[in-house]
Amino acid sequence: MCTECRKKFYITTPIYYPSSNLHIGHAYCTVATDTMARYKRLQGYDVCFLTGTDEHGQKIEDKAKEAGVTPQQFVDNIVLGEKGVLDLWKLMNISYDRFIRTTDDYHVEAIQKIFKMMYDKGDIYKGEYAGKYCKPCESFWTESQLVDGKCPDCGREVQDAKEEAYFFRLSKYADRVRDLLENTDFLEPKSRVNEMVNNFIKPGLNDLCVSRTSFTWGVPVDFDPGHVVYVWIDALFNYMTALGFQNQAKTGLEEFWPADVHFVGKEIVRFHSIIWPAMLMSLELPLPKKVYGHGWLNFNGEKMSKSRGNVVDPYILAERFGVDALRFFLLRTFPFGADGNFTNELLINTINIDLANTLGNLVSRTVAMNQKYFAGQLAVGGENGALDAEVKALAEDVIANYEKQMDAYQFSNALSEVFRLLDRANKYIDETTPWVLAKSEETMPRLLTVMKNLCECIRLAAILLTPFMPTSCEKILDLLNVPADARSFSARCYCADENATWNTTVGAPLFPRIDMEKELKELEELNKPKSPIEIEPYSQESVDFDTFCKSDFRAVKVLDCQNVKKSDKLLQFTLDDGTGTPRQILSGIAKFYKPEELIGKTLVAIVNLPPRKMMGRESCGMLISAIHTDNGEEKLNLLMIADEIPAGAKLG
Ligand code: MSP
Repeated sequence: MCTECRKKFYITTPIYYPSSNLHIGHAYCTVATDTMARYKRLQGYDVCFLTGTDEHGQKIEDKAKEAGVTPQQFVDNIVLGEKGVLDLWKLMNISYDRFIRTTDDYHVEAIQKIFKMMYDKGDIYKGEYAGKYCKPCESFWTESQLVDGKCPDCGREVQDAKEEAYFFRLSKYADRVRDLLENTDFLEPKSRVNEMVNNFIKPGLNDLCVSRTSFTWGVPVDFDPGHVVYVWIDALFNYMTALGFQNQAKTGLEEFWPADVHFVGKEIVRFHSIIWPAMLMSLELPLPKKVYGHGWLNFNGEKMSKSRGNVVDPYILAERFGVDALRFFLLRTFPFGADGNFTNELLINTINIDLANTLGNLVSRTVAMNQKYFAGQLAVGGENGALDAEVKALAEDVIANYEKQMDAYQFSNALSEVFRLLDRANKYIDETTPWVLAKSEETMPRLLTVMKNLCECIRLAAILLTPFMPTSCEKILDLLNVPADARSFSARCYCADENATWNTTVGAPLFPRIDMEKELKELEELNKPKSPIEIEPYSQESVDFDTFCKSDFRAVKVLDCQNVKKSDKLLQFTLDDGTGTPRQILSGIAKFYKPEELIGKTLVAIVNLPPRKMMGRESCGMLISAIHTDNGEEKLNLLMIADEIPAGAKLG
């Protein structure tokens, strides 16, 4: 079907603050969104999956200052740098279609136009703001909204703040927003509706302060210099600017807006279910079809967050357990709308029980038996038995329920359905006892059908699990040599009849069992606070001034540097020491530097030591370096000085 005729599905994650590296809590929402996007693609939808980064605001400005770089350099590093946002999504196999950065020019220009449109409409007006400001959340609060005098979102201290500012007439839309929340399925799960109405709408919606003058890192209000647009306005409209709203750089608004669903964490439901629809109402734009507020991934009962210092590193987990196992765990274990407590035990248990025992074993037993009894080739023929119809009926029921649950964003329930099928298939092996059937020629046709039923159950389960574990499911389908057209979602009907044939291959175990005790110990070791940096003890012996002054320290430039053959320690330096005659120094630092990275550097050498022979070569002096031990590991840094210092310059 051509793309234009296919049904559209637009799904988004929140755009992440690039204020520090992301953790497994951030990955949770993105994995859920990716799984839904993959599921919809399998169903034949033309999907647009948007994610990105929310790069403006005072917090970023402050952090950049702390780091001594510009805000743009700061966010570039966290978004594009090593183990940054893009790297993490690559690691987690996130199949986003678009990535927006709120510092992208087209977005900035669009936000300026949008702000002006609401201003021209009279929905944004100028006033003065006095209130309480929570810096980390970039949120203003009224006194009555504070909880114990602290930010109601994050529990941190708030500051008094007063400034001339623009306001959005949120109060004007209170009734329409309430109606939207109470009388439609706009916000789910339903429990979040009560929270919004009781905590925010019933006490009375105040107009919202939507500009700031206390910092500059934001979208400037172009008709009033000094003001920058409130970061949440800038952020929320990303869902539309990424499709070309108020800009020429992007397209897709007509096909994809309104969004089918915004997945968001529970603490930002307020912005998405009250402020966002109110602004769209102001601009008379269609509202997104749904906002789904998922729970938090907690760690020891508290929200995982950098500031609480309890973050779990997805890189470590993915490396040890595999990306698919990690993706699976996140969605299998915690119901999407509720909070979940992350523990390593839970992760390992889920992998061992569901993936190693139930799924992995079923696949390996089936392909091994196919190999043993039929040399991997299941030909036309067979003989149906009593249990087959029951297995088939169950499979069909599972498929129907799975879709119902996926369409309601209930990932863990959808997975329970798949595991109902896998458990049934494992039980079917125990009931049909293929090893007994294999003993007699007469029961071989029955054995053939049993194996076909097992292959079919695995094929179906692998299709249904593909959105969750794309790489592993492809491997499973490869082991069964399932042709491409039988891997698609439209091929999800149960068909293990007489005419079916299979050709299966034995492969390495997909999900090896993890030794819980050993693994927990190793993880604990990895997460242990690092032992402090150790420095050499200070010398108790003093040196008299005249003796010290005899040491001749000079700036030297590295003309050449090579490894010394048969030595894994030594580097041989040819140095310009300003005398016109190159100086040779040998240094035992090969473990710390590659020769090529030192060529051209300006180093410090003590040059009046008596020459020494090392590995048969003469060393005339010593290079100065700093040595310390970090977490048990010896570290060495050659002293490097500014290149404008000429060779031979005396140091003292
Ligand atoms: N920039 C805003 C979103 C703007 S959307 C127009 C923001 N960014 S964030 O980086 O702080 O959070 C992004 C998402 O990650 C939020 O939905 C948040 O709930 C989610 N999570 C952050 N920590 C989380 C957990 N520990 N568990 C689950 N989700 C978590 O908010």
